[in-house]
Amino acid sequence: MESVSELLDSIDDVGRDARRGGYSRPVYSTAELDLRGWFMEQAQRRGLDVETDRNGAIWAWWGAPPSNADSGGALVTGSHLDSVPGGGAFDGPLGVASALVAVDKMRERGITAGERGTRPLAVTVFPEEEGSRFGVACLGSRLMTGSIDPDRARSLTDADGVTFAEAARKNGLNPEHVGPDPTAMARIGEFVELHVEQGRGQIDLGPADSSKNAIAIGSSILGHGRWKFTVFGQGNHAGTTLMADRADPMVAAARIVLAVQQVAAGRDDARATIGRLQPVPGGTNVIASKVEMWMDVRHPDDAVTASLVTKIHGKAQIAAAEEGCSVTLTEESYSNTVHFDTRLQSTLQDLLPGAPTLATGAGHDAGILAAKVPSAMLFVRNPTGISHSPEEAIERRDADAGADALADVLAGLL
Ligand code: GLV
Ligand code: MN
Ligand code: MN
Repeated sequence: MESVSELLDSIDDVGRDARRGGYSRPVYSTAELDLRGWFMEQAQRRGLDVETDRNGAIWAWWGAPPSNADSGGALVTGSHLDSVPGGGAFDGPLGVASALVAVDKMRERGITAGERGTRPLAVTVFPEEEGSRFGVACLGSRLMTGSIDPDRARSLTDADGVTFAEAARKNGLNPEHVGPDPTAMARIGEFVELHVEQGRGQIDLGPADSSKNAIAIGSSILGHGRWKFTVFGQGNHAGTTLMADRADPMVAAARIVLAVQQVAAGRDDARATIGRLQPVPGGTNVIASKVEMWMDVRHPDDAVTASLVTKIHGKAQIAAAEEGCSVTLTEESYSNTVHFDTRLQSTLQDLLPGAPTLATGAGHDAGILAAKVPSAMLFVRNPTGISHSPEEAIERRDADAGADALADVLAGLL
């Protein structure tokens, strides 16, 4: 039986980013399509029936999909294969590879899904979890669950101006059919996502060479959202425009970046980030006419997040005005703080005695699904505590422990 690390080694070359380091695997890029092909082949090799749904999620079925909701629905596990720009090797693919290995392990234990009173099991891959191409995180699961307006989704554009509708069509979907999928939803009884831990949650609990805290059970996902600032100024010549005569949106943007940091640092548990900034037109000897920048804000209390954004917006307006500029702010997506289903969480605690629980600051498709179906997460310790970076890491023995834990959980729930 292949291990999780061996499976991941087989995609080690896919989507490597020589310029940024790590991996860049945006949805429907060559790299992500290669990974989708790899997943389908791995699933077929295991005798699973593979289908792609109207929103581009891939489902690999062990046992026939339930035909009606009365059956209690299938047990579903999986994650995503797309990445942030210059991301790590494990964010997404670890959950997908672990799910495939968990199927192998369950088979080895003599378990068969969808037969002799067991429910069917599906391994699924959600598209555009990171939102790194079209801007909205968890776009696939949001579409399926109906938590984004399909018209809005269709009109989202990537950095080259390609709309999601165009990308969907190019990849074999009918853009008119993307959106809520009650049939797919009715087939899900429970969803369990295994994921690399993306912070210090587990390594801070004890030594990383002990097996004790290698696997954690998710308790909640921090509320998070994305907003876009557009700072308008006067485009001009870098040599002929005196400093006193400028309305430079880049200077206003710099002041806004500082305001974001100051406001978030002044509030316990808040996190706020400007991770992407785009001057237009963008030339070394050009004072920009406009700067677009994207902000990520997170806090466990959704009302606090809203107040932080209001405060930042106020400071941004003052900074822009003082630089002779103006600024607009628009919300691009928001996900409430999610507390995972307590019944399912305590079942996982029974199945994995001694595993710690972990509240995560990262977003996941499991958080979107949690609004509609009982959902749970397992985290595998990350010895660097770093993610969304090439330095994200997993020890091989922890990856093995993750697949074992997932197999225990799926077998226990089946
Ligand atoms: C995804 O990993 C996110 O938390 O933004
Ligand atoms: Mn991520
Ligand atoms: Mn992820």
